[in-house]
Amino acid sequence: MSSYRAIHEQSLADPEGFWAEAARALHWERPWDRVLNFDEPPRYRWFEGGILNTCHNAVDRHVAAGRGDQVAIIHDSPVTGTTRRLTYAELQDQVACFAGVLRAQGVEKGDRVIVYMPMIPEAAIAMLACARIGAVHSVVFGGFAAKELATRIDDATPRVIVCASCGIEPGRLVPYKPLVDEALARASHRPERCIVLQRPQAEAQLDPDRDLDWADAVERAEPAPCVPVAATDPLYILYTSGTTGLPKGIVRDHGGHATALLWSMRHIYGVQPGEVFWTASDVGWVVGHSYIVYAPLLNGSTTVIYEGKPVGTPDAGAFWRVIAEHGVKVMFTAPTAFRAIRREDPDAVLMHRHDLSGLRALFLAGERCDPETLRWAEQNLGVPVIDHWWQTETGWAIAANYLGIEHLPVKPGSPTLPAPGYDVRILDETGHEVPAGQQGDICIRLPLPPACLNTLWGSEERFRQNYLSRYPGYYLTGDAGYRDEDGYLFVMGRIDDVINVAGHRLSTGQIEEVLAAHPAVAECAVVGVADRLKGELPLGLLVLKAGIDEPPAQVEQEAVDMVRREIGPVAAFKLAKVIRKLPKTRSGKILRGTIKKIADGKEWTMPPTIEDPSTLDDIRTALQELGYAQLAA
Ligand code: COA
Ligand code: AMP
Repeated sequence: MSSYRAIHEQSLADPEGFWAEAARALHWERPWDRVLNFDEPPRYRWFEGGILNTCHNAVDRHVAAGRGDQVAIIHDSPVTGTTRRLTYAELQDQVACFAGVLRAQGVEKGDRVIVYMPMIPEAAIAMLACARIGAVHSVVFGGFAAKELATRIDDATPRVIVCASCGIEPGRLVPYKPLVDEALARASHRPERCIVLQRPQAEAQLDPDRDLDWADAVERAEPAPCVPVAATDPLYILYTSGTTGLPKGIVRDHGGHATALLWSMRHIYGVQPGEVFWTASDVGWVVGHSYIVYAPLLNGSTTVIYEGKPVGTPDAGAFWRVIAEHGVKVMFTAPTAFRAIRREDPDAVLMHRHDLSGLRALFLAGERCDPETLRWAEQNLGVPVIDHWWQTETGWAIAANYLGIEHLPVKPGSPTLPAPGYDVRILDETGHEVPAGQQGDICIRLPLPPACLNTLWGSEERFRQNYLSRYPGYYLTGDAGYRDEDGYLFVMGRIDDVINVAGHRLSTGQIEEVLAAHPAVAECAVVGVADRLKGELPLGLLVLKAGIDEPPAQVEQEAVDMVRREIGPVAAFKLAKVIRKLPKTRSGKILRGTIKKIADGKEWTMPPTIEDPSTLDDIRTALQELGYAQLAA
């Protein structure tokens, strides 16, 4: 077998040869004319002229090859106390029927469908049904509030919305339908239909003029066949946080996506067809799109859809039960989940009650993996623990360790080495590469490999502006970091105002927009501060307008409520404090970096350009009053 380094070199020296070979593992209705079109940089297109269907490759192809009786999806739901298994043949039937439902509602190739669902198989069925008929799905995470959903409805202009009547969080039901109704009332765009899956825990009220019951519609449906689509056609739009309140619609194509994801299952995760692979994330995030739904199914593996938490459903042994009960071979989650488990079960007593001998590896991503968590997982699980780095934009790992090729030595704190097709460079602000050990902006030389975004929905200009303009010829990842003498990558943090809360990507700018709308608030700043469990938490500093009589504590509570209502509970916004004045430079720039250092207990120096040094004392007092010192990592 070739070594990782030989494979990586080959992928850069001959990208067309490398990815053409990978693409041959899929079924193509018509082969591509060109593997890569990079004639007009920075534009890049993979597999132009190729025709395929992602759903066929993820479902029907396996049934045709004799895997019909193999379990495709295990739904393990501690919050409802149920487990359900769907074979590939059953999945094919259900996807074809739901595709027929969409067709009957007039959904055609290229039309958008928003999916707003919890962790149930129907979420994957809806996604695959869209792929089957060439419709473009846009899944919205259930923890987002109505306003966020409305923004996405207006940007994606879907013909249909698919939702469930409720989600289930530990200790509370989340009725989804009222959120959808509110979003529709706020949005300017009017989808024609809303298809509602009724869950027995909380049935939704349907509007007979607009809403359809999933079960009734499926009963009447004519199964729909797979529609051939161009490799370059969009498969989905997934919104992610940018610098402003307007999220960015990352567009994923069919051909490049299926090719890279299938390659990654075998070579990064080392998972074979027929084996059980489990990603504990949510279908609303890119990790869920790629590694709960598409990659395991493209590979003919069994995927687990887990509707529960790492702790509290019912305890910190939940993950180990799932691994043992379903024979999970490889697992993927975010470090924060392991921090939560470790906090409740530091000696891994609950872990050792289960037979985990089948588990071969644990993959972590979504946020920086602190070496302590990595070591705890390694020591207790006794299997390779692999930190890998990627983002919604890329759809799969930019840097990883390659279980299916060779297990490279682990350096805690590093997601190891770049994946094939990624030519990663660390640049200084003049666009020159920095020497090993020196921090800079992490960039990727164009073209990006298959599956990575090549535009933003409805805004090619914003795509170029956000990602390609800072360093011509390179994609700007938005992360800063360095490479060591061995080329190992260390990702240290964002260069923009994106923060990472429990592996969830949020924009401080977006939270600021909500806070600034409070009638008593003159100015505000939101900074991501360290948290032992969630990695980061948003801290909101508020300056009140002159003459406001409202007690500060009341404004703070209202600010917390507003963020929960406008962005959603997922923002985990609980730290809000009214202060006298924001720390700023004489030119008016908010000293976010210094505020963060003070909060995180890191060394800091008084910025020479500070307008009023006493404002930093106020920050310390505010943090103490919030009890924040106890939270800091
Ligand atoms: N629908 C509705 N609400 C949701 C939700 C959903 N799908 N997902 C989360 N929420 C709510 C939670 O109930 C919580 O509400 P609360 O403020 O009323 O308690 C809030 O959003 C914050 O959620 P979260 O950040 O997940 O915190 P938590 O305290 O509930 O759980 C962890 C903490 C670490 C256990 C949890 O974050 C976790 O399992 N993380 C795994 C990481 C992960 O999946 N990352 C995805 C990218 S890989
Ligand atoms: P998302 O688009 O939500 O997947 O978030 C992507 C961002 O999360 C990246 O740009 C990084 O800032 C961060 N991230 C993801 N994985 C890692 C990792 N393994 N190490 C460090 N940061 C990570």
